[in-house]
Amino acid sequence: MAFDFDTRVDRAGTWSTRWDRYAGQDVIPLWVADTDFAPPPAVLEAFSRRLEHGIFGYTAPPEALREAIVERLARLYGWRVSPEWIVFVPGVVPALHHAARTLMAPDAHALVPLPVYHHVRRAPALAGRALTDVPLVVDRGRWVFDLDALARSIRPSTRAFFLCNPQNPGGTVFTRSELERLAAATADALIISDEIHCDLLLEPGCRHVPIASLAPEVSRRTVTFMSPNKAFNFPGTGCAWAIIEDAKTRATFAADIEAHIMASASLFGYVGALACLREGDPWLAAQLDYLRGNRDLVMREIDLPIARIEATYLAWIDCGPLGVADAQEFFLRHGVALSPGTQFAAQASFVRLNFGTQRRRLEQALERMKAAIRTSSRPSPTG
Ligand SMILES: Cc1ncc(COP(=O)(O)O)c(C=O)c1O
Repeated sequence: MAFDFDTRVDRAGTWSTRWDRYAGQDVIPLWVADTDFAPPPAVLEAFSRRLEHGIFGYTAPPEALREAIVERLARLYGWRVSPEWIVFVPGVVPALHHAARTLMAPDAHALVPLPVYHHVRRAPALAGRALTDVPLVVDRGRWVFDLDALARSIRPSTRAFFLCNPQNPGGTVFTRSELERLAAATADALIISDEIHCDLLLEPGCRHVPIASLAPEVSRRTVTFMSPNKAFNFPGTGCAWAIIEDAKTRATFAADIEAHIMASASLFGYVGALACLREGDPWLAAQLDYLRGNRDLVMREIDLPIARIEATYLAWIDCGPLGVADAQEFFLRHGVALSPGTQFAAQASFVRLNFGTQRRRLEQALERMKAAIRTSSRPSPTG
């Protein structure tokens, strides 16, 4: 079956975070990480069937969804989890914050990779926990951990290591051996692993390895967060899950959900998640082809340093060569809204571009960016 990623859907007036900020302006918004693609037809049909039913009462997490998750993790990663390890949450973001607050003692210290999706760092920071930034470095075109720097950052009070894999904004898919070294380097720390981008693998041959799947010892000290909402694009419905083997850690994390202090996932989140896990893979494969084409276009057209985007629909662009003080503001003046580097605790000379949009729109945005680059103090040679 052919899937259409080229037809534009007008998102104006739909309360879209990404589109509403620049409503009425000649700005192409390529910032917040959702895509401009409708989810797989199977998800839309499942939503319609539920809508036609007409009653949307309080809802318990469906057993069928737990089973679909267990089956998928075994099939894709050879990772055997028990259904009871799964705790449903309304999103990975609240789960990250909740984990920092419930699983780290007030005097515990966390290690956080940089650059990183802002909520990964904000989770321990807003919880008032001590943290040390562990800068990633570019090695052979990929953002990777500097294990020496990581080892130097460990303190006697280090209790948590926050991992974002695949990495947002860097686009790295950490290999099994890189993860093994990370697990060894973080010794006894709890690993809080945000794996929301795990289905968005663009690089042929790249495999996602859930860090918890490495070994029983690692699984027992890992909390993994996953969600279908990035890859299948229904983040507005609110559905994600934590996978926690250790019963004590799980009980601590889940207590506020069982007490209804924190919400579980939403009805339409469950419906969409079950439909995409059961029937969404052909659509996902087609979307990955399309995104690969968009990624290659960005890499071809933008003559600035961009590390290899192995996964995600996000390009992390080093605009340092342009010599502009604030790269986000610079491109915004030329009609393209990108995410500022500072959002990811990096320099303002970086921007993150979301290429999860129609090819034609991306081409227009890249034309504007190239025109902007031509006006900068250090024009790009091919720009
Ligand atoms: C690494 C990462 N984690 C979490 C999220 C958002 O998670 P959720 O929508 O499930 O709260 C994003 C969204 O961009 C993300 O990139």
